[in-house]
Amino acid sequence: MKKILYWVVGIVGIMQLIRPDFNNPKVDPSVALQSDPKVMNILKTSCYDCHSSETKYPWYYNVAPVSWVMANNISEGRKALDFSNWEKIDPSVKLERLKRGKQLVNDALMPKGEYLMMHKNALLNPKEKKILDDFFETELQKISVH
Ligand code: HEC
Repeated sequence: MKKILYWVVGIVGIMQLIRPDFNNPKVDPSVALQSDPKVMNILKTSCYDCHSSETKYPWYYNVAPVSWVMANNISEGRKALDFSNWEKIDPSVKLERLKRGKQLVNDALMPKGEYLMMHKNALLNPKEKKILDDFFETELQKISVH
């Protein structure tokens, strides 16, 4: 029994040596999303940790395998949709992301469940969902009229 315990502790210990590089790229305010404070508050609380350069890193992000899961979420999340790079997103790509964003938020698929476990305040209530839905709709209109 003891032997197994030593192995587990050893392996978990070795896992800690593989450390993702958690760094936030610099935010350029001229290309970052600017919107109504109500919208910004919700996005910053529920989406920015994976979809912007303003990620906040709690201490447990340093513990593998949480660190690996979150490093993956952050890099894939920024690739899919980066609010810090908002003005630079190609309009046709933005259109798709906004449409998808509406669905994901209304179907409670974003923010991701694994994230909500440790970030209870990121869970969207119906009022917040509505505010985000209106935001996505307004942004969609901006693209369609151009
Ligand atoms: C824990 C990290 C995390 C949080 C928090 C999060 N997302 Fe995501 N999101 C991802 C990842 C990773 C992807 C890319 C892979 C995928 O689609 O699952 C993604 C993809 C997306 C996409 C693109 C999907 C597509 O198919 O093109 C949209 C839109 C999106 N997220 C919206 C949001 C919104 C809006 C919020 C906040 C309400 C949010 N996300 C919160 C991690 C996150």
